[in-house]
Amino acid sequence: MTTPAAFQPLNAQAIQRALSTRTLGRTLHVLDEVPSTNTAAAELARENAPHGTVVVAGCQTAGRGRLGRHWHSPSGKNLYCSVLLRALPAGEQQAHWLSWIPLLAALAVCRAVQVVTSLKPSVKWPNDILAGDRKLGGVLCESSGVGTTHAAVIVGIGVNVNIREDEFPDELRPIATSLLIEARQPWDRAALLAALLLELETRYESLQAGRHGDIRQEYMLRCATIGRRVRIELAHGESMDGTAESIQPDGSLRVVRDDGTLADVRTGDVIHLR
Ligand code: BTN
Repeated sequence: MTTPAAFQPLNAQAIQRALSTRTLGRTLHVLDEVPSTNTAAAELARENAPHGTVVVAGCQTAGRGRLGRHWHSPSGKNLYCSVLLRALPAGEQQAHWLSWIPLLAALAVCRAVQVVTSLKPSVKWPNDILAGDRKLGGVLCESSGVGTTHAAVIVGIGVNVNIREDEFPDELRPIATSLLIEARQPWDRAALLAALLLELETRYESLQAGRHGDIRQEYMLRCATIGRRVRIELAHGESMDGTAESIQPDGSLRVVRDDGTLADVRTGDVIHLR
């Protein structure tokens, strides 16, 4: 009897068979274990790896999240991958792209999850992937050569796929979820990765074609933060309470503070209140 795809270790052949992208994932590194796929992709970038190079691993021993956090990365359960994006514009436009890439990556994850599983995840600004109020996945973007003509971005994506509730550490159990928990069935990570790369490629091409408006519109529709009461945790332990109003053309979150003044938040940790 053959093992169902959902329980098979990730392998390059299965991923390549499922791929329908032009460039993303056409250079593919599949590793059993790695400290962090983002770190591995950064090393490949320094060695001139091409646009669209993907690193995917069965487990991470030092998985990294946003804001210096740890990313729980047990073996054989979830999706841990990093995509190297090149071909960024020079000059002023570059900063604009850099602010939109994390957001469009979150959209790509949501859409891929929806296509594969029929679940409909939402995004907590800027790029937490949620099922209900629980975290299903996240995106960590790291850039190099910013301001130069050879800028590159590593888009690191983690999705909780086949992890059971009792396999989360105590501190994550109340706030994290997985596709298995939500849909009550296991999923093939190779198929999910292939769908994700296609959705990411489509949206990166939209950015390249100057269709920022389309991405912004899609983001507003997916974003569970808009219209919510929020607490924004800023640097230096400061915080601000208000209502999230919209996504600005530069990807920042417009918040109406409780005193009625407006703030456009570019970085920070958002807590959905009530
Ligand atoms: C977050 O904090 O929400 C972002 C989590 C990003 C995790 C992914 S897993 C693959 C890639 N490698 C890492 O070390 N982190 C990202």
